[in-house]
Amino acid sequence: MSVTTQQKEVVQQSFAQVVPIADQVAVHFYDRLFQLDPTLRPLFGAEMNEQRMKLMQTLNVLVKGLNNLTVLVPVLQRLAVRHVGYGVHSDHYATVGEALLWALEHEMGDAFTPEVREAWAAVYQLIAAVMMEATEAVAGPDRRSNQNKRFMARFIDGVMNQQKLELIDRYVADDFVEHVPFPGQGPGAQGLKETIAHLHAAFPDTHWSIDEQVAEGENVVTRFTWTGSHQGDFLGIPATGNAIHLWGVVIDVVRHEKFCESRLIMDMPTLMQQLGQA
Ligand code: HEM
Repeated sequence: MSVTTQQKEVVQQSFAQVVPIADQVAVHFYDRLFQLDPTLRPLFGAEMNEQRMKLMQTLNVLVKGLNNLTVLVPVLQRLAVRHVGYGVHSDHYATVGEALLWALEHEMGDAFTPEVREAWAAVYQLIAAVMMEATEAVAGPDRRSNQNKRFMARFIDGVMNQQKLELIDRYVADDFVEHVPFPGQGPGAQGLKETIAHLHAAFPDTHWSIDEQVAEGENVVTRFTWTGSHQGDFLGIPATGNAIHLWGVVIDVVRHEKFCESRLIMDMPTLMQQLGQA
């Protein structure tokens, strides 16, 4: 969302109304913030008076600086980098924005018209976007990659091992793409669900153990060992009762906490041999 010159003026004018009641706005802001996300409270010290003052003074500087983004952007980037040291993550900015709008509305009353709200929302989004980008640049990549690794590990354990197929609705994007589909695998999350159901029917004791995970950006590569016993029809091969034990590698894409794409590569010659096909 871009900020128009008029929106900058609206925010600057309305901030003039906030200055005399700045401390009340800050009190409401922090109350609301900790109500929305109580896990944020421990990031702050016990004494909030000074913090309230610093926040409002900085907002004042930022609002005045809106007309000169060349100067403002590096100020925001340095502020964001300090925030990484306070334990702040980029996901926190949305909650802070919500608490700020709430506090302004609460204190400004009727003066907080829809036009004023929209202008503040646009300005906050601009500030937050710069700060979040700086946050990701210093702290994001590793954190996000680790989160994505844990996400895929939860998927493998919950869906593949515990056979909770209903988790697919939560974890997998509707328009999921398997770039290396199983024979007969249909599109999307539904196609994945049917394929995994087929796999569980054929190998009811399926177990995927994770041997290694490497992640970068939105990609997670998982090397795993698949074990189980062949107790049902699999790709047209009737149950043999044979034990299977083979390696696989899956290159997955996790975007916005959803499993979106996959490339599943498995030691198929070994699987076929263990199923008596070679
Ligand atoms: C528009 C965005 C924000 C502004 C203008 C802002 C402003 C400030 C200011 C001025 C300080 C004082 C220290 C310093 O200057 O480095 C501060 C500290 C802090 N802020 Fe922010 N902040 C913002 C976003 C956030 C977010 C998203 C969080 C997440 C919870 C957060 C949490 C904190 C914490 C934990 C401290 C340190 C408190 C302490 O030392 O006790 N801030 N902030």
